[in-house]
Amino acid sequence: MTPDELKALVRSVPDFPKPGILFRDITTLIGHGAGFAASVALLADRAAAAGAQAIAGMEARGFIFGAAAAARLSIPFIPVRKPGKLPVPVLAIDYALEYGTDTLEVDPGAITAGENIVIIDDLIATGGTALAAAQLLRQAGAQVGHALFVIDLPDLGGADKLRDQDIAVSAIMD
Ligand code: PRP
Ligand code: ADE
Repeated sequence: MTPDELKALVRSVPDFPKPGILFRDITTLIGHGAGFAASVALLADRAAAAGAQAIAGMEARGFIFGAAAAARLSIPFIPVRKPGKLPVPVLAIDYALEYGTDTLEVDPGAITAGENIVIIDDLIATGGTALAAAQLLRQAGAQVGHALFVIDLPDLGGADKLRDQDIAVSAIMD
């Protein structure tokens, strides 16, 4: 499937979760078997080209695409979690969202020092989530030079923020 055909499978919902936000909902994309498979294949191909030794995905929607791409490549998946979910001491970071604030946590034991971890999420908006994840992974000793998304919202400038931190950004659609 082409990126345009995949884009047609993403539902746009106005004023969710707050007035003024146009929510790009991947429920309809992953609900289409061929569309989900094609999206994961594109992400996995790009992760392999980036030399990924592991993939990290952010809770919750990043788990859907990141875990599937990691399994396709037979490499580890590292869950970057919302607060209070991991049963071990964590590295944590607060970050700003397009519509609020949140915290991300990772198990430092899930990361091998020096390994090349590629970040995958469904969408980049302000870039706050992906930047926070990259910072956490780098703090844990990983190399983070690539982040992959299904959707980029370029008007919000997130991809530019990542590039400023030496992270190459690629998305299937905007
Ligand atoms: C969404 C999305 C990204 C993030 C992008 O997740 O899945 O992770 O926002 O926004 P940013 O670039 O401005 O940081 P959300 O925090 O809504 O959580 P969810 O995956 O649990 O729905
Ligand atoms: N996360 C941050 N901004 C978003 C948007 N506009 N649609 C879907 N998820 C988002």
